[in-house]
Amino acid sequence: MTKIAVLVSGGGTNLQALIDAEKQGKIPCGKIELVVSGNPNAYALERAKQAGIESVVVSRKAYADGEAYDEAMLAVLQEHGIEEVILAGFLSILGMPVIKAYPKRILNIHPSLIPSFCGKGFYGLKVHEAALARGVKVTGATVHYVNEIPDGGEIIAQKAVEILPDDTPQTLQRRVMEQAEWILLPAAAAMVAERIEKEKKA
Ligand code: GRF
Repeated sequence: MTKIAVLVSGGGTNLQALIDAEKQGKIPCGKIELVVSGNPNAYALERAKQAGIESVVVSRKAYADGEAYDEAMLAVLQEHGIEEVILAGFLSILGMPVIKAYPKRILNIHPSLIPSFCGKGFYGLKVHEAALARGVKVTGATVHYVNEIPDGGEIIAQKAVEILPDDTPQTLQRRVMEQAEWILLPAAAAMVAERIEKEKKA
């Protein structure tokens, strides 16, 4: 069984989708063993508690520099024997020591169709504000592997979502979550867990 950690920073609706998918048997080769939050007040921590999943806070602000933060994050993941890392609304940047320790084993969900509206400064509502400002008719979500370039890793899956004339950033964010993020991320998590299990047996 592939040990999965989910990294969060906020409300945790993507974490909830993963928890629900696991309960429904949709992630047969993986188990969410740990939730790591960059923010001590993240509601995602409450969701982890209600699901009986161990959680820990590793806040970037608590460390003098990126190297110390990466060292702490890596230590937490390795202490728990984590094999797959899922970034679900996670807003900190993982440094090379963590990325190198998990080649093609760190997934991120981004709320647009990469390469549109991604990269530095594009997160949360800002992504949807930019899509509405540009006047695109279709947006969506992307799951990709994490490498050293923000939102630059190999794309795993995408799902398109129509933009409606009266959309606000909030209504658009909600529809992209419901119709794309919460579907794509559990499916991608399951696919990567299955691959890891196969690699372990090879
Ligand atoms: C949302 O903007 C979502 O689109 C993006 O991260 C933010 C928070 O997600 N993936 P969550 O509710 O904390 O999963």
